[in-house]
Amino acid sequence: MTQTLRLGVNIDHVATVRNARGGVDPDPVRAAREAAAAGADGITAHLREDRRHIIDDDIRRLCDEIDLPLNLEMAATDEMVAIALDHLPHAACFVPEKREERTTEGGLDVIGGRDHLRPRIEALNAAGIRVSLFIEPDPAQLDCARALGAPVVELHTGAYCDARGELRAAQLMRIVAAAAHAESIGLECHAGHGLNFDTVGSIARIETIVELNIGHFLIGEAIFGGLQGAIREMRSRMDRARLSP
Ligand code: PXP
Repeated sequence: MTQTLRLGVNIDHVATVRNARGGVDPDPVRAAREAAAAGADGITAHLREDRRHIIDDDIRRLCDEIDLPLNLEMAATDEMVAIALDHLPHAACFVPEKREERTTEGGLDVIGGRDHLRPRIEALNAAGIRVSLFIEPDPAQLDCARALGAPVVELHTGAYCDARGELRAAQLMRIVAAAAHAESIGLECHAGHGLNFDTVGSIARIETIVELNIGHFLIGEAIFGGLQGAIREMRSRMDRARLSP
C-alpha cells in the first residue's frame, strides 16, 4: 500500500531575511501559520549555534502558537539537547553544523560520532521526542543509526539535487537503495535538502520515504507567487509523483 508522504516546511530563511535588517519582519511564525493553511504537515526550524536565522524566541513561539508538529533541527550539543528537553518539540533532527558553512553541507558522520551521539539520542528518546539523524544515503551510516536507537533517518538529497544528467541518476539510485535499506532494518525514512519543483518528483516516488523537509526553494518561490501558492504547488507535485508508478 502507498504510504502517505508528509511535507515539513522549513521556515529558516524567513528568519534569514528578518535578521538581515534586525527587527521583527518578516515573521517566521506567521510563515508557519501560512504553511499550515496551505496544507503542510509539519514545521521544521534549525536553531543554529550562531543563531544566524532562527532564534530561541522563534522556537518558543512555534511551540506555543502553532498547532502543527515541530521538527527542531539542531547540532548534537548539550546546549541544543537542553533546549529540546525544555520545549519538547514533536521531533528533533541532529544535523552536522559548521560555522563557516552556508547551509548543512553534508550528512552526520554517525559512525565516527557514535559515542557522542548515543547519550544525546537516549536523552531525547526518553523524553518522547522523535529523534532523526540527517545522513548521507550510505547503508553503513543507516546501520549505525539503527544501532544507536534512532527511530528515523533523514537522507540528505543535496548531492542528488546538485548533480546533473547521469550523475544525478546515480545519486538518485543511492537514495532509492538507502530508503529500501532503511525499511529493511526498521527505520522510518525522511529526505530533504535542496529539493525544488523539478527534483521533488523522483524522491516523492520512493514509497518508503514518508516525509520530505523543504525550505529554501519554497521561501524563494514565495517572493514571486506567495508562500501558500508555493507550498500548494509543491504538495501537488509530491502527490502526483507519489500516485504515478
Ligand atoms: N532537512 C535538513 C536536515 C536540513 O538541514 C535542511 C536545511 O536546513 C533541510 C531539510 C531543508 O533544505 P532546503 O532549505 O535546501 O530545502
